[in-house]
This record gives sequence, C-alpha cells and structure tokens, in this order.
Amino acid sequence: MTSSIASFRFTEAFSLAAPIAQAPMAYAAGGALAAACARAGALGLVGGGYGELPWLQREYALALSAGPRERIGCGFITWKLDEDASALDWVLQHRPAAVMLSFGDPRPYARRIADAGAALICQVQRMEQIPHAIEAGAAVVVAQGGEAGGHGMDTLNGRAVISFVPEAADWLAAHSPSTLLLAAGGIADGRGLAAALILGADGVLVGSRLWATQECLASDAAKRHALAQDGDATARSAVFDILRRKDWPTTYNFRALRNAMHREWEGQTDALRAAPDEARALFEQAAAQGDFTRANVTVGEAVGLIRDLPPAGEVIARMAREAQAALG
Ligand SMILES: Cc1cc2nc3c(=O)[nH]c(=O)nc-3n(C[C@H](O)[C@H](O)[C@H](O)COP(=O)(O)O)c2cc1C
Repeated sequence: MTSSIASFRFTEAFSLAAPIAQAPMAYAAGGALAAACARAGALGLVGGGYGELPWLQREYALALSAGPRERIGCGFITWKLDEDASALDWVLQHRPAAVMLSFGDPRPYARRIADAGAALICQVQRMEQIPHAIEAGAAVVVAQGGEAGGHGMDTLNGRAVISFVPEAADWLAAHSPSTLLLAAGGIADGRGLAAALILGADGVLVGSRLWATQECLASDAAKRHALAQDGDATARSAVFDILRRKDWPTTYNFRALRNAMHREWEGQTDALRAAPDEARALFEQAAAQGDFTRANVTVGEAVGLIRDLPPAGEVIARMAREAQAALG
C-alpha cells in the first residue's frame, strides 16, 4: 500500500486531493456542500434524490458556479428515476464528472450516462448487486453498510462494512479489477478512512459527517440536536418513510435518530401504513416547528463521532490528514 493519501486509484481517476466522495444526500447536499467538497479536493455530489427538477436545477447551477466542474457530479434514487428521469436527463446536459445511482437497477440508465461522458457510480448493499453494477459499466462501486445514515438495506438483508468491503474488494479483484471500490457507512474521521483503505477500498463515501457541516442544507437546530447524541441513538425502519409519504420498496429502509415518534411506531409499521393520517399530521407539524422529538434527523451511527459543525472543507482536510498519519 502506498503511504500517500493522494495516490490511490480513486484520487487519480477523479483528480482529487483525498480519496473521499461526499454522499449525494437528498435535501441536504445542495450546491454549496458539493462545491465546498470539490474545492477541498473531494468528489462533490449534489443530492438529486427523488429527481425534483427545479430543486436540482437551482442547486446544480450553484455547485458549478462555486466549485470545479471536474469534481462535481450528482446522485439519484434509482427506483424514483423509473417514474421520471427528467432530472437525470437535465443534469447529463451539464457534463457531470459522475452520476451516482442507488437503490434499484442501474442498467436502464447506463447507456445515457456513458454517452454523456459521466462516470457511473453504483451504490450497493449486497454482493448479489455487484454484477448488475458491472454490467451497467460502473466505474465505481460503493459498498454501503447498514451503519449508514439515510436509506439502506433493511436489517434482514443489510451488511456491515467491516466484512462487506473486503469481500467486495476480493470479488472486484477477481472479476472486474479496473472497477474502483468505495466504502460507505460509519466513516467520519481519519481512522475510518484509513481502515477502509486497509480493507481494500479505493476510497470512502461520506454522508453523516458532511451533513454536520456549515454548508449542508439541514437546519442548524437539527445539526445542533445531532451533535448531542452518541452512536446508540439511531435506528433503521420504515417509520419516517411512511410519515414522509415516500413509497420505498420494502427491502430498503431508513436510518435516523430514534426519537419519540420513531419509538412509538417502530413495532407497528403495518398499522402506521394502514392508517397514517393522524401520525402524519403530528409529524408534519413537528417538522414545520423543528420539534425533533417527532421530526426526523437523518444521520447514521457515525453521529457518535461528530462533535462539531465546521465548514465541509475542514472535514475533508482533517480526515485526509488523520488518515495519512494513521497509514504512515
Ligand atoms: C441525510 C442523508 C441523506 C441521504 N440521502 C441519500 C440519497 O438521496 N441518495 C443516496 O444514494 N444515498 C443517500 N444517503 C446515504 C449515503 O449515500 C451514504 O450511503 C451514507 O451517508 C454513508 O453512511 P454515513 O452516513 O455513515 O457516512 C443519505 C445519507 C444521509 C445521512
């Protein structure tokens, strides 16, 4: 293994200063965050999420106006593109460095992404999804563990980073050695980055740690609330998807702070799905008022490693510096 943090295959492929990609977090990763990460030498991915075109047009233009185009791309929730891919088609006209697809079959979108000259990044949660990503021509596979904030595989199907990443690395080495591998889930400091590289990843995809930064679009109150929690404080379920009217395929669910609203419904999601109106009204009121005993705060287990709200560039520099020291 090389001792320079800047000389991993992922940094070389995307002209980065550190092998870090910022996760395309729906509603949180707008243009300011993607641009700040790109300026700091990471790959900045605007959170195209559910494919809402006016939001994406505004935020992607902001990213391009404030950061280097060659390190800026966009991510989408794949099953949502199956309903409407106009936001993908729009962004492909703006020469993104990369398009990341998560949560669904990437193959129907592979040709148009390749034709636009963008690198395809596919986030996967299980070994069985990797061949589909390779068939789609993925330049980068992200192995996401169940620790991750936001969506991922449900507890029956999800994997843990510590064994998933090296297994994925071995598979890629044997079947598709030119495909790069990123680790995602629970990585929030230089120890996590160094560990991922040692496990065989070419870099990391960071969500929660970059959510807790000045440029993230989440409210300051939500960020400050998260700072006070430790890593025991999150849980994974369908509760907030039902409350937010997001019709996710049932194998995927959502990790966020396990607040009073979550605890009330986590054991009875079928009942919530069957009669959601009253709980939704309470949830929507709480979201409007910033009441985090009911509204969701979307972070993963890494929240226990987050103790400040710096600019995103400082997080990137700190992670790179700490990893460099750990590896050296
Ligand atoms: C607030 C938030 C929103 C997210 N939204 C998306 C999304 O829209 N699309 C996606 O592919 N992943 C999304 N993710 C998951 C990330 O891609 C990534 O897998 C995860 O953040 C990595 O784990 P970490 O949060 O421990 O760093 C989101 C994560 C967070 C924390």
